[in-house]
Amino acid sequence: MKREIIVTNDGSNSLYIPEMDETYHSVHGAIQEARHVFIENGLKLVDNSEINVFEVGFGTGLNAFLSAQFSSDSNCDISYHTIEAFPVEVELVNSLNYKDLISENSSLFNRIHSVDWEIESAITETFKLIKIEAKMESFQPKMAFYHIVFFDAFGPRVQSEMWSILILQKMYDCLMPKGKLVTYCAQGQFKRDLKAIGFEVKTVPGPPGKREMTIAIKP
Ligand SMILES: C[S@@+](CC[C@H](N)C(=O)[O-])C[C@H]1O[C@@H](n2cnc3c(N)ncnc32)[C@H](O)[C@@H]1O
Repeated sequence: MKREIIVTNDGSNSLYIPEMDETYHSVHGAIQEARHVFIENGLKLVDNSEINVFEVGFGTGLNAFLSAQFSSDSNCDISYHTIEAFPVEVELVNSLNYKDLISENSSLFNRIHSVDWEIESAITETFKLIKIEAKMESFQPKMAFYHIVFFDAFGPRVQSEMWSILILQKMYDCLMPKGKLVTYCAQGQFKRDLKAIGFEVKTVPGPPGKREMTIAIKP
């Protein structure tokens, strides 16, 4: 799969896949979007000092990096489990400008990328990471274990199978009661499917350039 580095409107990089005409983040600002959706409307809304996160789509590791920073800044213990079917090549990862823009602590980003897949690694004293190389279609995350799911698949336009009831049901099952799924997507059919599965669905303002995003709560 050919990927190209692009610069989004907040100056941060993202990746573009020409054959899908799809980007890994919003072209209005990759870091801005990740912070708004997954930190401000995600981690910050979990009322617990220990948080289990399941992420769909590790990609560039941007969400994991921001979460590790959040964990250090707020002294909150995070266990971060992330799945990725098509890991990004090391050369591309090394060319991304996230460590320059987010933290002078570049070793944090490097460590997130360099630790082995499939085993739990302590990235910092408060942030533990497991990267799982697998397709979501054939993976069942731990049941009723997670406080929050970061649902960061490619959009329904290019990857409708990732937004199917089958996958969304897995997300519901892996959340503990009161657990939340957050995503940049606010498409109507997606929200109707979440409701049909049993989620309570909230539509909230999206990051700059995107009107809305979704928070789904397991009762
Ligand atoms: C929108 S990008 C994720 C962006 C990522 N969270 C980041 O911070 O860079 C979607 C990711 O899902 C991955 N993906 C695509 N199909 C998948 C599948 N069937 N199972 C798991 N991951 C998949 C892609 O390779 C890509 O890395």
